[in-house]
Amino acid sequence: MSTLNLVLMGLPGAGKGTQAQKIVDEFEIPHISTGDIFRAAMKNETEMGLEAKKYIDQGNLVPDSVTDGIVADRLAEDDTKVGFMLDGYPRNLEQAQALDSMTAKLNKPISAVINIHVDADVLVERLSGRFICKNCGATYHKLYNKPKVEGTCDVCGHHEFYQREDDKPETVKNRIEVNTKLNTPLIDFYNDKKLLYTVNGDQDINDVYREIQKVLRAI
Ligand code: AP5
Ligand code: MG
Repeated sequence: MSTLNLVLMGLPGAGKGTQAQKIVDEFEIPHISTGDIFRAAMKNETEMGLEAKKYIDQGNLVPDSVTDGIVADRLAEDDTKVGFMLDGYPRNLEQAQALDSMTAKLNKPISAVINIHVDADVLVERLSGRFICKNCGATYHKLYNKPKVEGTCDVCGHHEFYQREDDKPETVKNRIEVNTKLNTPLIDFYNDKKLLYTVNGDQDINDVYREIQKVLRAI
């Protein structure tokens, strides 16, 4: 198989992070999540983190001028030689065009864009039931993806969990609206380039992954 340079797209709560974890475990490529990068910067209260927080807390997109630079720097790092898995970037047409110039410049062309499709009405419940291990960041859901032993993280054995700040109902509503509007032009863009593969995200987590594996083995 040639180098896997992947983009994972899908509305908030579609399961990008959940599936990205499985992909990077199996294919051993770095996981680049713009959301995770912003959350780490907010936690450390860096200048960029404080700037990003203004937008993230409202469920709006961080300006492209900030986001594009972060991704360009990250893709230029050495570990992406073996491939990469972008999660949550690009999110609008301008970012997709910016990514095109980055990958051309670095000679790391995108191999496939996997679009996890889930109807918007399912997403609110996904996000309101999500909880995350405080120690290692593993993600669970109170109904659909429980730890094997209640109150204990499957991955690291810790017992403390938290909910994301932007999973509050008012913020969730805006996140879904904002991203739904931007999604269609992005889908058209990658469809035209014959890079788009849509999988059904409204089924068991392992069944979603089986669909993704089929795509990745075929390319
Ligand atoms: P980001 O962190 O990327 O948030 P998001 O896009 O809103 O997506 P989520 O991480 O909430 O959902 P997910 O698809 O990863 O789902 P998960 O696997 O966790 O971005 C956060 C913010 O940062 C943005 O709002 C924006 O402000 C900013 N930002 C980020 N990127 C940006 C960019 N490119 N440009 C500008 N701004 C940017 O699953 C959700 C829940 O469902 C979990 O509980 C999980 O266990 C459960 N679940 C997963 N799959 C299934 C399934 N198949 N069945 C049942 N439950 C499932
Ligand atoms: Mg995520």
